[in-house]
Parts: sequence; C-alpha cells; structure tokens
Amino acid sequence: MPSESVPNLADKYRKEFSVFQNLHYLNSCSQGALANSVKRGLAEYVETMEIHGSSWGEWAGYQERARESVSTFFAVPKHEVAITTSVSAAISAVASALDFTGVRKKIVLTENDFPTSGQIWHAQEIRGATVVHAPANPDGTVNMGALLEMIDTETALVCISHICFRNGIRTELEPIIEAAKKVGALVMIDAYQSVGSVPIDINELRPDFLVGGTLKYLLGVPGTAFLYARSETTSELIPTTTGWFAARDIFTMGIHEYDPATDARRFESGTPAVPSLYPAVAGLEIINSIGINDIYAYVSGIHNAIREGLESLGASIVTPRDPIKHGAMLAIASRDQNAHVAALEEYKVITSCRDGNVRISPHFYNDDSDVEAVVSAFAKTRELLA
Ligand SMILES: Cc1ncc(COP(=O)(O)O)c(C=O)c1O
Repeated sequence: MPSESVPNLADKYRKEFSVFQNLHYLNSCSQGALANSVKRGLAEYVETMEIHGSSWGEWAGYQERARESVSTFFAVPKHEVAITTSVSAAISAVASALDFTGVRKKIVLTENDFPTSGQIWHAQEIRGATVVHAPANPDGTVNMGALLEMIDTETALVCISHICFRNGIRTELEPIIEAAKKVGALVMIDAYQSVGSVPIDINELRPDFLVGGTLKYLLGVPGTAFLYARSETTSELIPTTTGWFAARDIFTMGIHEYDPATDARRFESGTPAVPSLYPAVAGLEIINSIGINDIYAYVSGIHNAIREGLESLGASIVTPRDPIKHGAMLAIASRDQNAHVAALEEYKVITSCRDGNVRISPHFYNDDSDVEAVVSAFAKTRELLA
C-alpha cells in the first residue's frame, strides 16, 4: 500500500468513477476509467449542439483549451504543442517533414516500440529512410549499449517508447537524448504509456519531440492526442502530411498555396475530433489539479502492493522491480493470456493482455480493495500462471 506520507488519492477521487461500483478496474494502460466530469464533458458537447446547432467558435476554443491543458501539464509553451487525433497522426506528420535523400537517412527504434511507431517509420523506407532496431536484453529491457552505438551522424531521428505497452518496461531517456544531441540527431519520445502516471520533465530532458494521447492515464476518450515539438530544434521542419487546421491562417481558405503555421500547430491536420476534446480537457483538468508527482507516488505504492501479493503466489512478473525501469503497469507471464484475462473478469477484475502477459495497470483511483481483489483473483486462477 502507499506509504502514509503519500496522500491517499483513491480516498478522495474514487467516488468520481462509477465503474468502481461494479468492478475492480485495473486497465488504465488501455483506457482510463471514466470520471463523472469526463462524462459531463461528453454530455456538454451534445448539449451545445442541441442548444446552438452548429458551434464552430466553441469547437475551436476547445482545441485551444486542450492545447492549454497539455502545455500546463508539461509546463511548456502552448506554441510548442500540437493537438492531433492520434499518436499515429502526430508521428506521421513529423515523419513527413523529414528528408531522407541526404546523409541522415537512419531512424533508430527498439524492440519495445508500439506497432504504429514501427510501421510508420518503416513506411518511410519508401522515401529513402533506413530503419534499425536496437536489440532487447534477455529480460526484455532495451540493450542500451547497442542502442547508443547505433546513434551516429547518419541518424535522422531516434524514436523511443518511454514505457513498453507489452511488458511495462521503462527505458531511461537521458543517455539516449544526450547521445543524439552529440551527433545532431533528433529524438522523439512516445510517452503514451507513461503520460499521466509517471513524471516526465520535458524542460530537463529536452527531447525534440514527445507524443502521447489522452485516452489512458490522462482519463479522456479516443480522438485526442498531442505532439510536443521543441521550437529551438524543430522549427525548420515542415510537414507534408497536413491539412487546413495546420495553416498559418485557417480562415484564408486558400487553395493555391501551402502556408503552414510557424508554431507546432503546423503538425495538425483537418477538423479536430471535437466530441473528444471536451472529455480530454475534463480529464486533463483532473490530472493537473492532483499533480503528477502525487499520482506517481501513490500509484507506485499500489504497484508495489500488487507485486508483493502476486510474488507470494509464485507469479512470474515480467516488469522489472527497479522503480526506474517500470511505471504503473505490471505484466504477469501467463499460460493463456486471453483465458487468463477472461478468468480474472469472472471475479470482476478488469485487466488486459499482450505478448503472453496479463497487464495490470493501476491509477490513482485504485485502492486496497482492488489490490486484494486482484491478488485473490490471481490466486483463484493460479493454474493460468506461467
Ligand atoms: C506506447 C503507445 N504508442 C502509441 C499508441 C497508439 O496510439 P494511437 O492509436 O493514438 O495512434 C499506443 C496505444 O495503445 C501506445 O500504447
């Protein structure tokens, strides 16, 4: 359980999430639990349409509120934040801005990246890119020595998943960013599995790009994601995957030229996913009001309590124990991942699975009753442990 010096966030906030009346919800790595205020956000969109009919002004305002909330969350300027409809859209826009016809053709990835990242970067091979993957160590962590060796003067960009969606392994970002900076390569962090549950200090780390979405630990619904683009190092990059919402002046409605915004908005595209912006802003408001450091401290306690309980059952925990090598998620090796998730659900414990592992992903709304329920459900389904 979280130590006594850490505020008990579940005590204060759990009642705002109706799902806990029915279930032990521990699947925030897939999607966050629905908060009442997030639900109200969705309703507000519908009401706006019913009251005003069309409402372009308010819609555009919500895109800006989302930008503001993300910039507050990371303590970075708004002009360095683009609001996109998915992480895939954000990565694609950046990829389209890179020129692979010169010396810098290389994209460095790992074995722990999300499929969309691997697929988008490999798609750039058609445009001249060479894509390499740093190997994994036997325990699934990124082989840092091999990765750092791959970063050289031919490297255009290194794209790293901060926390792996399959096994919960966190990769240390500092040495990678430092190595890339030394040779003038760009770095993109895919923070979707960490944002909202693990602190990320952009001002300290100074990555060139960081992508994430609001669906998981930021409590939103599908359709709102973001790109941070450091203006100091990326302002010369002009995307060719674009759209009218990326124009310098959206309202010129020109069709005879491409005149992208000069700030990060140039990485945006067409009409925002407006119904998703309302709940995204509501979710970010909750996270910003609690503060990421308290969330991290609290969730670490829940993570450790689950780990201890499952270890006592003899479970094989794939996610490393070292706190700098994991975030919220615990991945548990399973004999049959789908049957395992279904069996846990029989006991009202909601998890998910990938790559032969059951993923348990707590957040600040989980409490001791969830810890007990998950350990008890694993005990009752012990035969599925690998
Ligand atoms: C680490 C990571 N990156 C990217 C994605 C995909 O994001 P999107 O569907 O918004 O493109 C996910 C989704 O689960 C993810 O976990």
